[in-house]
Amino acid sequence: MEVLLQKILLFGVVFSILTTCTVQEDTITVDQVIRDGDTLVSDDEMYELGFFSPGSSRNRYLGIWYKKISPKTAVWVANREKPINDMSGVFRVVANGSLLVTSGSNNTVVWSSNTSLVSQIPMSPVAQLLNSGNLVVREKGDESYVWQSFDYPGDTFLAGMKAGKDFVSGLERRWSSWKSRDDPSPGRFSTSMDTNGYPQLIEYNGSVPLMRYGPWNGVTFNGLPKQLPNPTLTHEFVFNDKEVYYRYTIVNRSFISNIYTNPEGDLVRRNWVERVQQWSSYWSSYTDGCVRFGLCGPNGICNPQNSPYCTCIEGFEPRNPDEWSASQWSSGCRRKTSLDCPKGDGFGVIKNIKLPDTRRAWHNKSMTLDECATACKSNCSCIAYANIEITRGGSGCLLWVDDLVDIRTVEESQDLYVRMALSDLREYNPRPNSNKKRRTIIVALSISSILITMILSFAIAYAWRKKTRYLVKAPEEPEKKIDEEYCSMESQQDDDIELSYFSLAMISKSTMDFSNEMKLGEGGFGPVYMGVLDDGREIAVKRLSKTSRQGVNEFKNELKFIAKLQHRNLVKLLGYCNEGDENMLIYEYMPNKSLDLFIFDKIRSLTLDWSARLNIIHGIARGILYLHQDSRFKIVHRDLKASNILLDGDMNPKISDFGLARMFRDHENEANTNRVVGTLGYIPPEYAVDGTFSEKSDVFSFGVLVLEIISGKKNRGFSHENDSDNLLAHAWRLFEEGVALDLLSPHMRDSCVNSKVFRSIHIGLLCVQHYAKDRPTISSVVWMFDQDDALPPPKQPAFFAKGLTSNVDQISVNEVTMTNLQPR
Ligand SMILES: *[C@@H]1O[C@H](CO)[C@@H](O)[C@H](O)[C@H]1NC(C)=O
Ligand SMILES: *[C@@H]1O[C@H](CO)[C@@H](O)[C@H](O)[C@H]1NC(C)=O
Ligand SMILES: *[C@@H]1O[C@H](CO)[C@@H](O)[C@H](O)[C@H]1NC(C)=O
Ligand SMILES: *[C@@H]1O[C@H](CO)[C@@H](O)[C@H](O)[C@H]1NC(C)=O
Ligand SMILES: *[C@@H]1O[C@H](CO)[C@@H](O)[C@H](O)[C@H]1NC(C)=O
Ligand SMILES: *[C@@H]1O[C@H](CO)[C@@H](O)[C@H](O)[C@H]1NC(C)=O
Ligand SMILES: *[C@@H]1O[C@H](CO)[C@@H](O)[C@H](O)[C@H]1NC(C)=O
Repeated sequence: MEVLLQKILLFGVVFSILTTCTVQEDTITVDQVIRDGDTLVSDDEMYELGFFSPGSSRNRYLGIWYKKISPKTAVWVANREKPINDMSGVFRVVANGSLLVTSGSNNTVVWSSNTSLVSQIPMSPVAQLLNSGNLVVREKGDESYVWQSFDYPGDTFLAGMKAGKDFVSGLERRWSSWKSRDDPSPGRFSTSMDTNGYPQLIEYNGSVPLMRYGPWNGVTFNGLPKQLPNPTLTHEFVFNDKEVYYRYTIVNRSFISNIYTNPEGDLVRRNWVERVQQWSSYWSSYTDGCVRFGLCGPNGICNPQNSPYCTCIEGFEPRNPDEWSASQWSSGCRRKTSLDCPKGDGFGVIKNIKLPDTRRAWHNKSMTLDECATACKSNCSCIAYANIEITRGGSGCLLWVDDLVDIRTVEESQDLYVRMALSDLREYNPRPNSNKKRRTIIVALSISSILITMILSFAIAYAWRKKTRYLVKAPEEPEKKIDEEYCSMESQQDDDIELSYFSLAMISKSTMDFSNEMKLGEGGFGPVYMGVLDDGREIAVKRLSKTSRQGVNEFKNELKFIAKLQHRNLVKLLGYCNEGDENMLIYEYMPNKSLDLFIFDKIRSLTLDWSARLNIIHGIARGILYLHQDSRFKIVHRDLKASNILLDGDMNPKISDFGLARMFRDHENEANTNRVVGTLGYIPPEYAVDGTFSEKSDVFSFGVLVLEIISGKKNRGFSHENDSDNLLAHAWRLFEEGVALDLLSPHMRDSCVNSKVFRSIHIGLLCVQHYAKDRPTISSVVWMFDQDDALPPPKQPAFFAKGLTSNVDQISVNEVTMTNLQPR
């Protein structure tokens, strides 16, 4: 009996030792403690909490770190300022809901959390380390938190944390650097959302602003380095009566990434690279000489590409020229001519900048730019205005009433309208014909075809918003009264949009009076001609046929989109012509016509080796990425196909034909249409059947293109001796059988790198998966081409049943576009 009891006891002891050793808990209750050496581990084993010593220090701190990463990277520390100098630390949650860290034999409290509201004090509190890395205190069985470590951040900004302020509770979250890598106590540098004026993210050195990352512009904080599209992160900015915050999420939780302030004050996004077992810095705030807050003083503007960095805003001059020329810019700039408001002044625009400090700016999120302009113009103490957000064509209103501080140039960014004396404005009026390389065009708003002209002026205005320059508008005059708008442009840079007016006479002459010999083909809304201008330049002219009702819409659509976009993988619009009832768009001429003429042609396909094809695939992907993500508007092309991919003299691809493109609002992801348009063989099932389309529709078409480019076979009309599949099904079958490379057009087998071909087929198959949700976004596609990481297996592609046309109203069956016919 005694023996049995002993055995049971022994078993019990062994069992309890076993359980305490092996089961890693993420929760403790009031009865349990974590001693130095014990840890809590989040359920997914990403994070671990316990006592540790940072760097080469021997002090002990309670902290949270990544369980998998070595060397230990702490993301949060409790007793930052009060280290424990032995192994006596104990962590516990006490009955009133507070967390305590104590040390020594007399249990001295070195750190405690505050549970501020008595009403929140839980009955039986537990402390839990969540998968997000958040340490929370909550009532057992209750999901709401009485306290969370995410509200008291250290130097690391994790996914899911809110950078901002709760206006109701007054809670303000502030990140602060460590003193050194060995000492987690708060250093000089801290970052927080400053809620004076319009909220903006600012990093301080002590109490002095060091870097201003700026207000959220709808896409990013544009004082941060330009971020490459990163499909693994999503961003969110919320600003309402209750709270303001920025937060990001990591889409794939196995990807380890965070933002942290290092002890030198540099804000860094670091990603853990599994392969090399190291952190790599994805971006860091010290990118160039213009990051310092207010480097150029009041009314100065910093451009890291200039030497010296600082200049004055137009209409201003250095306050202290001697200091200024000695690169002492802090005294800034003052007006050349004092204002004579309201009669003697107007507004000049500074383009592509980070907006000035908004700590004293007035804002209204729902006003349009026009309302904003009116508000500013009608109050003489307002000296500048701007949109808050750049998405959806710009929205919201910010007004400044005093000096403009900390402006810098930023690519593709915001415009600021600054009040200036008329004389200073006139000085910057570009002089026509002052330079041969500068061309001046006049848009006469009184010409008949008002509709098109209105769109044009919008398009032109947009095209020029992209450049940092001064565009002059007569002050206080309604738009319609402005008969002429003089704008200048340069033609040095290839990437610039040059939207010029071509006279009918000039076009007529260049195309030999629209002769049949010069006709290239028939586009969506009329014939396309080749033309040769007097200066020898070759052009392609799309002429809107006078009878086409559908054509007018597509023509307008094309103009609306293409004029707004500029990217080396999109075809370039050179100008337009509208005279009488003629409406024409003029493009750069693409000597190699379109992709279909190469890949589907027995002879010509021989001239396209593997690397040329891969280059084309990459180019198309980048063009689509620009449409979907990088331009200010999210655009779905809806008619991507081989004949719409034009090729320049060096066989670089350019996406053309925006007649069917649709612009999406920022948060709109899917649209529905009663009329299904597009080209059979390239449209995804959800579009053909339900009429829903999204950016994933373009991804589908892209996938078809990839497989066509690799195989040299058309998806539509595909036939193969062994099976009756279409190209997609055929490719998938080969892939599943492990012989994907058989898809490759035979003549390329020597010139290719098998692993690259295989990967490209794999990516192509991912893009043509049946369900839109399974298809990657184009940014992931671009990423997949650049990386060597393993790809998920493709699911079955959309098998396109032959003759599935019942809901398809308008399909370019003949697949004729502007360039797929030879001049006859
Ligand atoms: C909770 O209890 C601990 C110790 O039992 C004490 O130090 C702390 O002040 C208490 N907190 C509150 C908010 O009452
Ligand atoms: C607790 O013990 C430490 C040394 O272990 C001593 O320095 C401290 O004064 C003691 N505190 C109290 C309240 O007794
Ligand atoms: C707890 O509250 C006190 C006073 O409100 C504050 O000084 C202290 O910093 C708070 N501690 C923590 C860990 O939030
Ligand atoms: C922060 O401020 C201190 C004191 O003014 C100064 O010595 C130091 O250089 C500053 N650090 C940076 C990075 O600007
Ligand atoms: C997340 O990434 C890992 C590794 O890169 C990968 O194995 C996993 O399949 C991905 N998960 C999802 C849902 O994409
Ligand atoms: C902001 O502007 C909108 C539209 O002009 C107006 O209705 C609203 O009252 C304004 N809000 C404030 C706080 O001025
Ligand atoms: C002009 O703007 C200033 C600063 O925002 C404000 O104090 C003043 O009331 C405004 N004046 C008028 C007439 O609206």
